[in-house]
Amino acid sequence: MSKGFIFDLDGVIVDTAKYHYEAWKSLAQQFGYDFTPQDNEHFKGVSRVKSLELLLEMAQYKATPEQKDRWLSEKNTAYLALISHMNDKEILPGIPQILDLLQRQGNLIALGSASKNAEPILEKVGLLSYFNTLVDGNSVSKAKPDPEVFLKAAQQLGLPPEDCVVLEDAKAGVAAAKAAGMQCIGVGDATILKLADYCFETTAAIPLSLIKELSQ
Ligand code: BG6
Ligand code: MG
Repeated sequence: MSKGFIFDLDGVIVDTAKYHYEAWKSLAQQFGYDFTPQDNEHFKGVSRVKSLELLLEMAQYKATPEQKDRWLSEKNTAYLALISHMNDKEILPGIPQILDLLQRQGNLIALGSASKNAEPILEKVGLLSYFNTLVDGNSVSKAKPDPEVFLKAAQQLGLPPEDCVVLEDAKAGVAAAKAAGMQCIGVGDATILKLADYCFETTAAIPLSLIKELSQ
């Protein structure tokens, strides 16, 4: 039986980390915290609510539940404005070729993302039609490294977890894929993504021959 492939969104299909960074940075200014690119590394793969908690911890700022709700909504409004212009030029290199190959071979394709903005982003960059199913931040209750998002994607594809391969750029995402009993291709620093079965610095470096090999 052929394998299913489950893609993370941010950092695997598109480079939206820079927009999340800008939106968190401008929010952090409101409570006098200088949010850095290094700080942003800890936010990759982390849900919006958890990210705000992390930010408040970094800034040592105690916020009321009302402030938190307002800031979550402000952050998302800023993020939506930043991604409003996104188009197919922002697809990470090599991803269209991988999707084309999988589609040609008849493999099933799913999204497994923490983002609540996943569907409109896939639509903006013109990739939505490749996906047989989407599991995103609106449909899971437990965040990565919990395997829920990937197990749900496998279930929606009608495949057992061991017949699924995950592509991930976040440490928590790789841990979630392995906890789900799936093979995992990591994108990023191999010293951070230690649990991944294969790791490449960028999406451009993922060999199509490996995708072919794993897709049988
Ligand atoms: C993940 C990103 O994919 O989605 C995180 O790596 C982000 O940085 C999370 O916080 C939630 O995204 P959104 O779009 O729902 O705020
Ligand atoms: Mg990611």
